[in-house]
Formats: sequence, structure tokens, C-alpha cells
Amino acid sequence: MNWTHTVLTERLGIRYPIIQAPMAGGPGTPQLVAAVSNAGGLGTLAGGYLHPEPLRQAIAHVRSLTDRPFAVNLSVAAPAKTDPAHIARASELLAPYRAELGLPPTPASPAEPPTFEEQLDVLLQERVSALSFTFGAPDNVYLELLRDAGIVTLGTATHVLEAIVLEESGVDCIIAQGAEAGGHRGTFVGHPEQGLVGILTLTPLLAQHVATPIVAAGGIMDGRGIAAVRVLGAAGVQMGTAFLACPESGAHPAYKALLRQGSEIATTLSRVFTGRYGRVLRNRLTDELRAHEAELPGFPLQLLLTQDLRQAAAERGLTDFMALWAGQGCYLCETRPAGELIASWVEQATALLGSGVSSPPAPELASTPESEPESEPESEPESESEPESESEPEPAADFTPDQSKP
Ligand SMILES: Cc1cc2nc3c(=O)[nH]c(=O)nc-3n(C[C@H](O)[C@H](O)[C@H](O)COP(=O)(O)O)c2cc1C
Repeated sequence: MNWTHTVLTERLGIRYPIIQAPMAGGPGTPQLVAAVSNAGGLGTLAGGYLHPEPLRQAIAHVRSLTDRPFAVNLSVAAPAKTDPAHIARASELLAPYRAELGLPPTPASPAEPPTFEEQLDVLLQERVSALSFTFGAPDNVYLELLRDAGIVTLGTATHVLEAIVLEESGVDCIIAQGAEAGGHRGTFVGHPEQGLVGILTLTPLLAQHVATPIVAAGGIMDGRGIAAVRVLGAAGVQMGTAFLACPESGAHPAYKALLRQGSEIATTLSRVFTGRYGRVLRNRLTDELRAHEAELPGFPLQLLLTQDLRQAAAERGLTDFMALWAGQGCYLCETRPAGELIASWVEQATALLGSGVSSPPAPELASTPESEPESEPESEPESESEPESESEPEPAADFTPDQSKP
């Protein structure tokens, strides 16, 4: 069977098992989402930060550009509790940067973030094709509503225990987010460091432990990466950074220009922009506030506190204070239209895989998305921690973020 035909393409009604990752904060425009869907992949609209009406409008915008299926992405985490001491400390730490940009010393009171429930209402009313989510698993009652509405669900896991939690909740697909990935870490069980598993390890690991189809994400930048994870048992890929420099991407031109540059713009993990760890290009804010990360409030409080600083920086084209989300593969970014990229990746992967994925599974690797699923995981994961649906745990003092350079 052709490598492009998988349970993912079948479930979603798409031609290629290639999902464009949701990219909140500007890059994931309706134009990019539609371009990917029109090219045979699945575009994803980043809805996590959108209140109901803008979310509805964004869905309508995508629909005006494509009649193909696309997904919407939401975050599941309960917002961090208001935390006056950490908020005061963050304001103090951000004040010198605000002064540099001519902003008042403290940000205006942040608006309330949207709730998952009100966002979900919109998706159910709009009958979108698929919902992907990160930072946890929605309550069963919501998953049932989505199933009844025929909406395909994709949850994000960064290690085995999370994949098992998602499988037990009944999601249709599990996105395996490798440590290489740009953007927020989806880790919702245990310490963020526990979820820093490379995609070449994570893909076969999850394929071995759960029967739910796996979508590999993180560091996949072209047809070579797609072929590699297909061979390792993924039913498809989710790619974010590879689309960042496309003309359809809404990333700031100064941000796009940095993606392909050398080692001084290596990625790092930081929580200075939002209160959750995520992979970004290193800049002044990540470097200078590195030592104070544990003093900052959680997601999305820190996101709201840095909002006008990031906006003022973007208006001036000043990358020092922008959140430059990017994966470790960013040096491979291409500036071509999304449709052209997808066509060339499909060609590359086809050249590598021929007409099918023929590599034999490892002896212990009894379960792959295309083989007969196992009903029980083969072994218990090492971690004994309980799943948490709350926001990200406070960072431990000994967490040393990945400093590796692309
Ligand atoms: C700019 C950017 C923004 C992102 N925003 C989101 C988001 O809103 N929701 C989400 O689930 N993942 C988000 N991600 C993470 C992606 O879902 C995915 O894990 C990642 O892009 C895969 O790794 P790659 O960037 O190396 O392809 C974002 C990634 C990037 C690069």
C-alpha cells in the first residue's frame, strides 16, 4: 500500500498524512491553514487564544479559502491561579524592558482568557472536521460530544504515560511531540523535563505502547523526516517550524529571517513569554531572564503580562523581545509556498519509501498503527505520578533547559 495511505488520511479524508501544526501568536494564518488543506494535507487553525467570536470568524475565513477538511487546536489546561506575588515579581523583572520600548512600567490589567467550554461550543456548532488539543485531555463528556458530532480528536503526548492517559480518554489520534518541537511543550503529566524525548525515540515507543494511531511531531522538516517516522510506526506527521517561513505564514519578517541563521540563534526552552516551557529562538529576553524563570507566574498569566511588550517589539521589528517559537530543525526552513513544500516533501518521501512502508517492525514492536492493535500496553511506564489536568507544575530548581544549538 502507498505510504501516503494511512488510518489518518482515511479518518480525516485527506490525501497526504501531513498535518500543519497549529501556530498561535501570528504564524498560523487562515491563509496558511487553507493552503495546506488545499495541497492535500490538514491545515490547523490555532484557536487556543481566541474568544468565541474571533474563533468563529477565523473558521469562516478558512472556509472562504478552502472546502477541504481542516482542524482547530485548543489548549485544555486550566489557567494558572491568580498569583499576586509572582505577578508583582514578573512586572518588576519586565519593567526595564518596557521602559526601553517606551511602555508604562506595568501592563494594563489583562483581559480574561477564553474558556475551553465556550471555545468547544463554537467548534460543535461549526462542525469542524477535527480538534487537536494540547496540555492535557478534555473531560470524557466533551470527548463524547465531539465523537457524536463526528469531529476527529487528536491529543498531544510527550511521553508514554500521557499517551496512555489520552488513549484511555478515547481520542482518535495521539500526536507524539518530540523534544525537538517548536512552541509550547505539551507535557501535562510530571515535570517538563520528563517530556523531553527525541522523536526517533518517542515515535516507536508510543507506537509500541498504545494502539491509537500516532502522529509524529518535532524536528520533521522535509520528506526525509516524514519517511523516517513513517518507518518508525507513525501514521502521519505534524509539522510546524517547516511552515514558518512560508509566504502564507504570519510570522514577522524579522523572525522569518532568523530561522535559517547560525548558532547564535540556537533554540532553547523558556517560560519567560507565557509561563509554560516552550522552544524558541534564544534572544535577549530568554537569556537575561533565564535565572528568574522560577519566579514568573504560570500560563497564561505570564502570556498576558508580556503581551504589550511582545506587540511593541513586533511593531519595531525588534526580535530581542518577540516570542520566536521554533523547533531545532529551523535551519532547514524554506521560504516557498506551503503547497510547493508539501509537493516536494511527498516526492522526497516517495523516492525514499517507494510504494510503501516496508521496513519490518522490531521483534518487540508488535503494534504499529497499520498492524493489529494490542488491547493492553506491554509494560507499565516507569513514572508513578498521577495524571494532572491542572496547569503546568512549578519548575523545579534543578531543571536545566536544553541549550543545544541547531
Ligand atoms: C510558532 C509555533 C507555534 C505553535 N503553537 C502551537 C499551538 O498553538 N498549539 C499547539 O498545540 N502546538 C503549537 N505548537 C507546537 C506544534 O503543535 C508542534 O508540536 C511543533 O510545531 C512540531 O515541531 P516542529 O516545529 O519542529 O515541526 C507551535 C509550534 C510553533 C513552531
